[in-house]
Amino acid sequence: MIKGFSKLTKAAKIEWLIDNYFNSEQSARETLENYWHSDEKLQKLHDEFIENTITNFYMPMGIAPNFLINGKEYAVPMVTEESSVVAAAAKSAGFWADKGGFKATVKSTTKIGHVHFLWKGEDKLALIALIQSINEKFYTETEGITKNMRKRGGGILGIDLVDKTEDVPHYYQLEAEFETCDSMGANFINSCLEKFADVLKAEIAQSSLAPNEVEVVMCILSNFTPKCLVHVEVCCPIEQMVEGTEMTAEAFAERFTTAVRIAETQPYRAVTHNKGIMNGIDSVILATGNDFRAIEASAHAYASKDGRYTSLTHADMSDGLFKFWIEVPLALGTVGGITGLHPMVKFAHQLLGNPSAAELMMISAAVGLAQNFSALRSLTTTGIQQGHMKMHLLNILNQLEATEEEKAMIVRYFIKNTPHHAEVVEAFKRVRGGEVIA
Ligand code: MEV
Repeated sequence: MIKGFSKLTKAAKIEWLIDNYFNSEQSARETLENYWHSDEKLQKLHDEFIENTITNFYMPMGIAPNFLINGKEYAVPMVTEESSVVAAAAKSAGFWADKGGFKATVKSTTKIGHVHFLWKGEDKLALIALIQSINEKFYTETEGITKNMRKRGGGILGIDLVDKTEDVPHYYQLEAEFETCDSMGANFINSCLEKFADVLKAEIAQSSLAPNEVEVVMCILSNFTPKCLVHVEVCCPIEQMVEGTEMTAEAFAERFTTAVRIAETQPYRAVTHNKGIMNGIDSVILATGNDFRAIEASAHAYASKDGRYTSLTHADMSDGLFKFWIEVPLALGTVGGITGLHPMVKFAHQLLGNPSAAELMMISAAVGLAQNFSALRSLTTTGIQQGHMKMHLLNILNQLEATEEEKAMIVRYFIKNTPHHAEVVEAFKRVRGGEVIA
């Protein structure tokens, strides 16, 4: 155990780690230092993003080009550690680009937050009446906080008292709705809520409801954002669902639609199905400096909003058309947070044409839909391992420290067969032993 770790210099923090967890091994220190940025200013910027920073942790950024969304072309930046994800998104983008692309609509952008409080009084009607009578004060007392947001067209949309005493004794909420424009808005919302709590406490203390004072338990935005919703769809004549195997377009569309039905009805499958969607969405969220934990939490809560966990995507075949769509809550920001700080995040925004938050919602959801299309296309035809293991082949070869020549020969060798781990190791041993494999 150590006291005051955060107060140590970076060098001293590393020293302590190496001594205590790496038997003073020099190589561990070298690993950390190798990942420091040579530009001190840039390194300082990264150091200050979080606390107790010792080095940087790289993730690859890839590009999925040819995303046609509402008639506009995007090359989408994706940050992920998982092989196949970028390739799958790009493949799907290409498939849909010549079929009209992705049609996207933002249905709503409202965010919600709560003052969670206890009030032990009996006269609920009096509480309701008081909250109504002071409603205006919540707005006037937060004018300093909301001024800039109001100028941009956002602000507080509404504040309601919600009786939750059946769930928790004496428990009520002030439930507030917000429009935060292009910012994710967490700080804005939380600041407003804390001010609401001050107003509430002061007003109740001065009212006839006293001495039953309000006990504020907490003030916090909700990461469940079902009112911050985007819809993206693709559609084509069924005969265009040609996917490159011997299957007819009709049979492929049928099997694909059945796979979606399975995800809609079976939670075990739905979780994996949605995980695949989030492979795409999270990659864009990370590249654009948004909060992927918030996005994940909200997406999965939304998937279970009707009481059973279900698929975020849906498919339909009717009137000779195949239609595939996603509806997902995405509370995103394109200003604030690290969007104006992290050089790669800034690059990602520039690459996307500095989109508004609403446009970024549409891009991210389109990538999620594309990802799911590719996954289901593989799963329902060749199986997922063929493509996945081909992409993973390089990871295995890198782990084995294969040379470029060895890699080229082994990749050629597996061009026609799905490479499983043991077979790759076997092939590597043969090549390392001097054998030419073909
Ligand atoms: C792997 O990361 C994602 C998939 O499992 C998604 C799915 O099964 O739909 C391939």
